[in-house]
Order: sequence, then structure tokens, then C-alpha cells
Amino acid sequence: MVEPKDIDFYSLGFNFIETKTMFIATHKDGKWDSGQFVPFGNFEISPASCVLNYGQGIFEGMKALRTKNGDITLFRPEENAKRFNFSAKRMLMPEYEADKFIDAVKKVVKENEEYIPPYDSGGALYIRPILFGFGPILGVHSAEEFKLMIFTVPVGPYFPEGFKGINLEISKVYTRAAPGGTGSAKTICNYAGTMLPAKEAKARGFAQILFLDAVHLEHIEEVGAANFFAMINGKLATPRKTGTILEGITRESILDLASKQLGIEVEERDISYKELFDNSCTEAFCSGTAAVITPIASVNLEGEERIFNDGEPGEVTKRIYELLTGIQRLDIEDIYGWMTKV
Ligand SMILES: Cc1ncc(COP(=O)(O)O)c(C=O)c1O
Repeated sequence: MVEPKDIDFYSLGFNFIETKTMFIATHKDGKWDSGQFVPFGNFEISPASCVLNYGQGIFEGMKALRTKNGDITLFRPEENAKRFNFSAKRMLMPEYEADKFIDAVKKVVKENEEYIPPYDSGGALYIRPILFGFGPILGVHSAEEFKLMIFTVPVGPYFPEGFKGINLEISKVYTRAAPGGTGSAKTICNYAGTMLPAKEAKARGFAQILFLDAVHLEHIEEVGAANFFAMINGKLATPRKTGTILEGITRESILDLASKQLGIEVEERDISYKELFDNSCTEAFCSGTAAVITPIASVNLEGEERIFNDGEPGEVTKRIYELLTGIQRLDIEDIYGWMTKV
């Protein structure tokens, strides 16, 4: 374990760094135990465990932030608790009471407080709750024993070199999720399948893939592990919830901020990738806990390129970025009651 005093909080990326304490709870014989806070460390697991053989596992991603006056905040943790349980149900695993989930998250953050990057570093303590089928099985069915763990990792700002746009490749080869599948659950299975497409796109010089719907290869779904937004005909459009996209908490918050605070008309609808190549589309960005608001500089499909706003972040993108990050650091008043103090 690296001691907090030996970490340069001003040069962190998004890489694993061990912190002091994790939470672990066990579901056995139909009930959860009371859980405990233990030193971060390895544990033993059966080679026949359901998660290793059939991918019965889910996760969440959250951030604890340090504010200017030294407080520690979480952004809408009750939404993560809700989505965690939605994902658990979809993967046939037991739910965990939302209040207990938030309480455990807060305590893990408090235990690892020394690892929270300072306000002026722009970093955060990333929080990773996981839940998986721990018990051994052979046939394709649910485990009978489950583990919930929560650990933390200090991470740097998403834009160490400033707020810059990324170049995306639209894929007509790979899709992320199909109707009736698990696209709207935060299950580990959805992520392993995107690694090869992402690697191939990176080798061609793109930051990520823009996935299209699996039925028509026409409508935009999402970007790697982030939701998609575009200004089209003066309205802020985002793909509607089809059951195949992960319903981001940042996405939901942006829809509120844009419509209620910035007076921008918002639309949740099918967006054809072809609309991005039209002049009516003036800017685009993606959103998520890790990505925050990431401007999209260009989209590319089979050699055809559309550059937005000369590759610079658009006006709406900048305004939403400033508003959202301002609220998250409590530099701007939290009128929606989104922030929870630890
Ligand atoms: C596939 C996918 N889409 C979108 C998001 C954005 O969701 P959120 O804003 O809740 O972080 C994430 C990250 O959690 C994700 O993994």
C-alpha cells in the first residue's frame, strides 16, 4: 500500500492505487450479514464461483470530492444505490438496502479520507461498489452466496491538460447491447465485450467507439462508458432510454440543468448517426462519472469525418461542464439537493 504522504495528488491518472479500507458483506442462506470494514486485500474464491464462470457480477462508479472549504461530498448517491439494485435484480442477485449502501459508501470514504485528492488538484476519490455470485455452481444458474465489496481509488482530473475534445469512431462492426439483453444494467459482462473494439479504435487513433443500436445500426447509443449528447437544431438531444443504454446519473442531471437552469430545450429520442454529419448538429459531448462532460471534437465513419466547432468544446458543452462541476464542488449553490456530505 502506498502511504497517502507518498502520493502526488497533482499527477494522478485513472489507474489503480490501493487504499486503506474496504467494506465487505456476505449474503448467505437468504440474508445479508451486517458487513465489516477491513484492510483492502485479496480474498479466496472458488474456481467454480458463478462470477468467474458465468459473469454474474455488477458494479457502480461514484466519486467523493473535496470542496473548497474542505468538506467531502458525494453526488446523488441514492441514484447509484437504486441503479445498483436494478442491476442486481437483472443479474438475479439479492438487493442491498439503499440506506445501508449509502452508509457503507460514506464510511469507506471516511476511512480512506487521507486518499481524497485536494480541491485544487481537480481529482477525486473514485468509489467502486461491486456485487457478485461468489458461491460455486456448475450449471448455468445463480450462485447461492454473494459478496458485496466497496473499495476506493484516488484518481486525477479527467482533463489534466485542460478541457479538450476527443475523436470518436462510429462502429458498424461492433455493438454493445441488444434489445432484451443487459445493456441498461451495470453488469461486468457489458464491459469485457467493449475492450477489443476500444483497442482496435485506439490503434486507428480514436479515443473511443460511438456505438449504434444493434438492430438497425443507425441510432446512436453511447460512447464506451459514457452517455451521448448533441446540439441539433438548437435543441440538446440524447438517445432515449431503450433498455439498451446505461441510464447515467450524469445524463439525468444534465437534462435537468439544461432545461431548468439554462433554458435549453431537451429531447430524449432516437438520433441517427447521419444527423451528426449535417450542419444542423453544432456540437456534441459525452457524460459520465469518470468522463464528467467530455467534448467530442469529431466523429468518424469509414473515412468520413465530421469535426464539430473546429475541434473546440462548444458553448453549451462548456456551460453545462461549468455548472455541473461547480455544483459538484459546491462552488455553485446546490439548489436540487443533489450533494450529500460525508
Ligand atoms: C456504459 C456506460 N454508460 C454511461 C455511463 C455514465 O453513467 P453515470 O453518469 O451514472 O456515471 C457509464 C458509467 O457509469 C457507463 O458505464
